[in-house]
Amino acid sequence: MIINLPNFHKTQDLGILLGQFLPAGTTILLQGEIGAGKTTLIQGIGKGLKIETSIVSPTFTLVNEYHEGRLPLYHLDLYRLQPTEVAAIYPETYWEGIEVPLGITAIEWAQHLPYQPASYLEINLSYTANQTRQAEIFARGEVQLALNFLEQLQTEA
Ligand SMILES: Nc1ncnc2c1ncn2[C@@H]1O[C@H](COP(=O)(O)OP(=O)(O)OP(=O)(O)O)[C@@H](O)[C@H]1O
Ligand SMILES: [Mg+2]
Repeated sequence: MIINLPNFHKTQDLGILLGQFLPAGTTILLQGEIGAGKTTLIQGIGKGLKIETSIVSPTFTLVNEYHEGRLPLYHLDLYRLQPTEVAAIYPETYWEGIEVPLGITAIEWAQHLPYQPASYLEINLSYTANQTRQAEIFARGEVQLALNFLEQLQTEA
């Protein structure tokens, strides 16, 4: 599905919606050019999960964990990493909930992943005319229900 995001608030609102209804164990793989709105969307997810701490992209830490909301949020930003380096941080730890509680895993620059989870929401953000943005969302594997629900919410809005 395609959602137009005419301003910053629309990007954040989409994230809020996702943070409010997505179940534990959902992985969101975000792609899109520099400044396309990946972090903005994840900040919205944080709000939707009722995380009060302000969300900034992980740089040196590679993964930021937030445990104060409805579900844990694991935020990865793979911008500076090669796929082999990503493999070394075992991203599946987060999306499979290995030794961490299962939550929402949101990954910027997901095209740098050496492998993907079995099911995930793929969100591709792109620039459109006049500095606005567009989100293209695909369900891969067993997250089709989430996408159907999102579609329903969008038509009602
Ligand atoms: N739909 C939108 N319309 C216009 N501006 C937006 C929109 N969404 C986000 N922005 C703005 O774009 C800028 C970059 O957003 P953001 O940091 O979320 O991008 P990013 O994809 O995470 O970038 P990076 O690749 O550097 O991590 C911010 O100033 C943000 O407010
Ligand atoms: Mg970012």
